[in-house]
Amino acid sequence: MNINNLINEAINARENAYAPYSKFKVGAAVITQNDNVYTGCNVENASYGGTICAERVAICNAVSSGERSIKAIAIVYDENNFAVPCGICRQFIYEFGAEIDVIMAKMNGEYKIKKISELLPDGFNGDLIN
Ligand code: THU
Repeated sequence: MNINNLINEAINARENAYAPYSKFKVGAAVITQNDNVYTGCNVENASYGGTICAERVAICNAVSSGERSIKAIAIVYDENNFAVPCGICRQFIYEFGAEIDVIMAKMNGEYKIKKISELLPDGFNGDLIN
């Protein structure tokens, strides 16, 4: 699976976004060490605070299928902006590895890649509590 395919998976997942409040649709796709792909879209809630981002839905799909070895995550919003993960999602991605590649894409397939450790410097991890 190459990067363009992973971005396409995120674009497809974005179609399922449930975003009646913000109208802002987001799609995400993770690829694991086994080369399996898990996707997510944002799922909003009338309480607003109950909303969950596409990135976390994709990671929860992987983890709930028994896969925690995440290599990369691709994210898309729209045609004009590279999709950056929010702060909560940065922490959530970091949980599964400082070396995870974050592919911040536009709908036209352009992208930038950074390690999650670059997006979340000095990230908090379980080492302190284990
Ligand atoms: N959202 C995501 O799904 N991922 C992000 O990284 C940023 C924000 C969603 C949450 C909400 O449904 C909408 O985008 C507007 O914030």
